[in-house]
Amino acid sequence: MASGSGIDADAQSQRDGQPQRGRSRREAAAQRLCRHNPDKGNCAKCHLDAPGPGGRPAQFADFSFIALGVPRNPEIPANRDPKYFDLGLCGPYRSDLAKETGFCGMFKSPTLRNVATRSVFFHNGRFHKLEDVLRFYVERDTKPGK
Ligand code: HEC
Repeated sequence: MASGSGIDADAQSQRDGQPQRGRSRREAAAQRLCRHNPDKGNCAKCHLDAPGPGGRPAQFADFSFIALGVPRNPEIPANRDPKYFDLGLCGPYRSDLAKETGFCGMFKSPTLRNVATRSVFFHNGRFHKLEDVLRFYVERDTKPGK
């Protein structure tokens, strides 16, 4: 790989523990993913792509808690019980907010930095391909009953 390429820049920034200032190839891919359909997806509303204070690199997340309604993952043994639900902020793993029903189903928005290097997506690992993540987001609006 030629020096100065996006991949090298990413590897370097991971070693330093610092995000790369210049746009790496993966960062550009994350931004393309978000701009895929800016009118409908509005991805950057939660996965912020604007520079932070003092021109710091974008976080690609606002780290807020949102209920997206990611489908159940049949690969998780606990989900064999139809009465079992992972409701995120309101349990069962957390118990302090169990009575705050308005928080049920909420999970933290993660950063999309280097998202293309991962192969397991969302809190329950429901999807393994970014294409399937995108399809979920699109169909969530067009086929909410699915
Ligand atoms: C309303 C806020 C919001 C919007 C808009 C949004 N996301 Fe997300 N995104 C989240 C939250 C919250 C999660 C984590 C949900 C979970 O784990 O259940 C997430 C997770 C993801 C993940 C999984 C990342 C990982 O490492 O597991 C990807 C990829 C992603 N979003 C891409 C997108 C794209 C592409 C768009 C636009 C089409 C988009 N998001 C729009 C809030 C949002």
